[in-house]
Amino acid sequence: MSTLITGIAELRTQDDDLATLHGAALVVDGDRVAWVGSAARAPAADSRVDVGGRAVLPGWVDSHTHLLFAGDRTAEFAARMAGQPYTAGGIATTVAATRAATDDELRANLRRHVAEALAQGTTCLETKTGYGLTVDDEVRLARLAAEQVDEVTYLGAHLVPPGADPDTYAALAAGDMLAAVAPHVRWADVFCETGAFDESQSRTVLTAAAARGLGLRVHGNQLGRGPGVRLAVELGAASVDHCTHLAPADVDALAGSTTVATLLPACDLSTRQPLPDARALLDAGAAVALATNCNPGSSYTSSMAFCVATAVLQMRMTVDEAITAATKTPARSLGRQDVGHLAPGARADIHVLDAPSATHLAYRPGVPLTHSVWRRGTRLVSP
Ligand code: NIG
Repeated sequence: MSTLITGIAELRTQDDDLATLHGAALVVDGDRVAWVGSAARAPAADSRVDVGGRAVLPGWVDSHTHLLFAGDRTAEFAARMAGQPYTAGGIATTVAATRAATDDELRANLRRHVAEALAQGTTCLETKTGYGLTVDDEVRLARLAAEQVDEVTYLGAHLVPPGADPDTYAALAAGDMLAAVAPHVRWADVFCETGAFDESQSRTVLTAAAARGLGLRVHGNQLGRGPGVRLAVELGAASVDHCTHLAPADVDALAGSTTVATLLPACDLSTRQPLPDARALLDAGAAVALATNCNPGSSYTSSMAFCVATAVLQMRMTVDEAITAATKTPARSLGRQDVGHLAPGARADIHVLDAPSATHLAYRPGVPLTHSVWRRGTRLVSP
C-alpha cells in the first residue's frame, strides 16, 4: 500500500546533501520512504494526501531521555527557581518513587510520555534506566523501556545510592548489574560528575560495558568542567551529553573525534546553568546534537521544538544546524541510518508542520506547530 504525500511547500530531506526541496512530494510504501522529489514528477500511488502547502521534515530523534520513573519533583523545581542549586542528589527522590511503583504504573507513565513526544513530532526515542540502582530494579526498567522505545541505555551508574560505598557500587554497576541488564539494552552510560561517579569509576563501568559489546554514552561536563568529555572521546563513545562546561581542550578533543556532543538546553535552563557553547563546537568541526533530556528532575520537557528554538535564539545555531542537530546527528549518535532523514529507504517517520517553512520553529517560538505525524508509514497524529 503506497501513499503519495503532496502539497509540500518545503521538504527538509536531511539526506546526505541536506537538500531542501520546494514544491515537493514524497511516496511512502509500507513503513518506508519510497520516493522523494518534485511534485511535478511524482509517481502514481494507491492513495494521496495533500498537506496543503506545509513544511515537512523527518520526525525528531530524541537521543537523551530518562522516561522510566515515578513520582514528582515539582517542589524541588520551585525551590531551584527560588535560588537553590541543582545537585545530583535529587535523583535519589525519583529512585525511591520508582522502586515503589508497579510495572503497570511505570508502563503507563512511559506510554504517556512517549505519546506526548509523538504528538510533538518525536518519532524515535532513546531512554535510560538509572532510577532503579539495584540489579533487579535496573533489569526491570530496561525490560519495560524496551517494550516502548527504539533505543535503551543502561545507566546503573547514575548515582551512588545513599549509604552505599562508591567504589563498591561502581564495581556492581560494572559487574553483576551490567551482566543482568546487558541483554536488554544496546547502550551504556555513566554520570561522570562531582557528586556522581569520578573518572576512575566511570572508566571501570564504561570499559566493562564496551567489553560486553554495548555502545557507550556519557553524561559529562554538566555541572562543571571535568573528565567526562575527555573520557568519552578516549573510549570512543558515540555521544557525550550535556557539554555545558567545556574547556578549550574539550572542544578540540570533540572536534577531532567521532563522538557526538549532545547538548541539552532545556536542562541548562531548568537548572539555571549557562547554555552550552554550540558555536564553539560547530566552528571547531564537532558534531552537535540536541535532545530534551526529559526527566522529572533537571529537565521536564519532551519538546524537541523548544530545544530547536532555544538553540537558534539563544545558542547562535542557524535553523539548518538546529534541525540537523535534532534529526540526522542524533540518529548518527544512536548508530541508526534508518531515521533522522527522508530519503528512499528511510523509515517513513514524517513530521508535517503547520507552517510553510521549518524556519517557523524558531521564528514562532512556543507555538505548537506540529500538524501531523507519520511513524513507520502510519499516520498517528492528525490535525
Ligand atoms: O541528565 N545528570 C544526570 N541525570 C539527569 C538528571 C536526573 C535527575 O535529576 O533526576 C540529567 O540531567
